[in-house]
Amino acid sequence: MLNIENPTTTLAIDTSCDETSASVVCGTTILSNVLPSQMKYHKKFGGVVPSLAKFAHEERIDNVVNQALKKSGVEIENIDAIAVTIGPGLAIALEVGIRKAKELARKYNKPLLTINHMEGHLLSALAKRKEKNDNTQSEDLNNINFPVLGFLISGGHTELILVEDFHKYTIVGETQDDSCGEAYDKCGRIIGLGYPAGPVISQFAKLNRANVDYVIKKDSQRTMVELTNQISKKKYQLPIPMTHSGNLNFSYSGLKTAFKYLVHEITGEIVTVQDQLEGKINLKKDVIYDLCSVFEASAIEQLKTKLTKALVKYKAKEVWLGGGVVASQRVRSELRKVSKLNGAKLRYPYSKKLTTDNAAMIGIAANLKLRKLGNRKLNDEISGVYFKDFDSIDRIPNMSL
Ligand code: KG4
Ligand code: ZN
Repeated sequence: MLNIENPTTTLAIDTSCDETSASVVCGTTILSNVLPSQMKYHKKFGGVVPSLAKFAHEERIDNVVNQALKKSGVEIENIDAIAVTIGPGLAIALEVGIRKAKELARKYNKPLLTINHMEGHLLSALAKRKEKNDNTQSEDLNNINFPVLGFLISGGHTELILVEDFHKYTIVGETQDDSCGEAYDKCGRIIGLGYPAGPVISQFAKLNRANVDYVIKKDSQRTMVELTNQISKKKYQLPIPMTHSGNLNFSYSGLKTAFKYLVHEITGEIVTVQDQLEGKINLKKDVIYDLCSVFEASAIEQLKTKLTKALVKYKAKEVWLGGGVVASQRVRSELRKVSKLNGAKLRYPYSKKLTTDNAAMIGIAANLKLRKLGNRKLNDEISGVYFKDFDSIDRIPNMSL
């Protein structure tokens, strides 16, 4: 029988997209987080190919689970529960993880928890390192100052979530078209940076930081960012969409279109999709760097504007960042400034592996669900928390928080 007074230890699995991941988590402390990259399969296609993702998950899942257990030093018999992502994600990819989780739960007679992938990203900011496991985690969790604003910035989502308490979530802002990460990837692809282009754009913008200055220009219609390269004296402008809207929603497709026109204006050539995939693009290195800088400035300015509005509106005491784009140091430092200015504490995942899709965040979400139950004895199935009727568990690809 499970003793929920102590932090529970969960074996978690996530196969929602292109990462095959398994992890063992005690409370919010990460004992292992295994995620071998599938990137070599998808890179040449310029994006994730669902059938290839499924194939790679099937090939790796057993090994990844075994490695996660081995690295954690916990025997599967001593695990309290199994947790698995049921959505949102690619249906045929989710199925692989769900099948494996059911198999393990049956074989070892463990409760099975179904977890929303986005809840995992949201809670990833609470992850603690194994070395720092000093048993103060329940105290830490009691010290969280609600309301919190969760800010998920990934390849699939750009969302602001009002967290009034654990498990009390309301989406207060989301993208109306492309996500922020998608804009990084699509714009990077236009200038031949491959896939995923987000990390490359961030790196080039960082290397170029000392050479450029930018100003934000506003009129009654729109807001623009104007970047000047102090060496070449070249100037570049891009819009910052949605700054005039009264709501907390985002839009990134207009930025992508404006970026395409800007590249066209510079090269005098229309860049085809094939050119993008093959990296055939007629731009000098310093111009590519400037384009990365001006894109980054616009993309981040929209995030800052919306976070400021949300902090003022909800008077949040903390901001939790999650999702792949949070791997960008610039994103974190700019959002920290905004949080600080508005009296909120910023938390974000302690490592890059926790910003991308990973099973550790799923384990945290599962342990927090178990914690919510207090010392109730886990003999019976509890609706929405864990299941004994494994056959009723299925993927929900389009689920929302
Ligand atoms: O959360 P994630 O791994 O996958 C999901 O979408 O769920 O996010 C992937 C996104 C990609 O768009 C990738 O380009 C972006 O995160 N990304 C970055 C960086 N690292 C990953 N974007 C900007 N700077 C980075 N350092
Ligand atoms: Zn994700």
